Amino acid sequence: MGKNLSEKILKLKKEKNAIILAHLYQTPEIQEIADYVGDSYYLSKIARDCKEDLIIFCGVKFMGESAKILSPQKTIILPATNAGCPMADMACVEDLEEMIKLYPDAFKVCYINSSYEVKALCDVSVTSSSALDILKNVENKQILFLPDRNLGSYIAEFFPEKEFIFWQGFCPTHERISVEDILTAKEKHPQVKVLAHPECNKEVRDLCDYIGSTSGIIDFATKCEDEEFIICTEEGILYELKKKNPDKNFYIPGGSISCVDMKKTTLNNLYDTLLNMKNEVILDESVSKNALKCLEN
Ligand code: 13P
Ligand code: SF4
Repeated sequence: MGKNLSEKILKLKKEKNAIILAHLYQTPEIQEIADYVGDSYYLSKIARDCKEDLIIFCGVKFMGESAKILSPQKTIILPATNAGCPMADMACVEDLEEMIKLYPDAFKVCYINSSYEVKALCDVSVTSSSALDILKNVENKQILFLPDRNLGSYIAEFFPEKEFIFWQGFCPTHERISVEDILTAKEKHPQVKVLAHPECNKEVRDLCDYIGSTSGIIDFATKCEDEEFIICTEEGILYELKKKNPDKNFYIPGGSISCVDMKKTTLNNLYDTLLNMKNEVILDESVSKNALKCLEN
């Protein structure tokens, strides 16, 4: 059935001249069918630069919104309409406006994991792979960073001369990764390197040998000569890790870390939305224009 459905999707995709993008946290069957699989930064660049006018974005809401902001003339479809990001939902416009009043001189940096309304109020948007390079070019002393307090505190360690104000948002999926589970995994596999996403909290990050975006983790594990790794991020990443490194072993602390929203995209809703052109991402134009400035910066 799965194979039949995949074939039907691929046929329909060709007929409609569409492109399928999938985040590395998507299920194996979605990653398998996608034209491009990658981290948030990579996917938003592909969405902007691809020649196709119809993009099926297998990810969560803020990713579909970012693709639409960067390419307003393209049709963006998010197969799972209810796939949000709990961390992005932790920052709302009203609270941000209050913060801006409190810190009028702060340079406002938002993680791409935020709504487009929030982006429209910020100066620049970063991803986990672009954040350090972007912050190097910011002259302001005071930085308001939102919504992820974990990515924020990780970045702040590289800029001790700046004063960071952190929003208290976090990713509930990464927050579940615990020091205890990592130590238990290390007891079983004492020599292995620990690789983590910066959305993990500081206690977890302090135990790690490498910290980076999902693509960064895959590159590190692929280039490193070690054969075993403890991986502190969402388990969807294992599909690409294993594909690139069939002879290496990867362990998730506690056995399983899954983001409910990333798993809402299925072959069924992908087929249905592509067939019936449902779930198109529609944004308010003027808000979107302001959010574009933030993303382009
Ligand atoms: P990256 O793929 O950019 O590392 O982001 C991870 C993430 O949490 C996406 O929701
Ligand atoms: Fe949001 Fe975390 Fe899920 Fe990424 S993994 S979509 S940050 S809840």
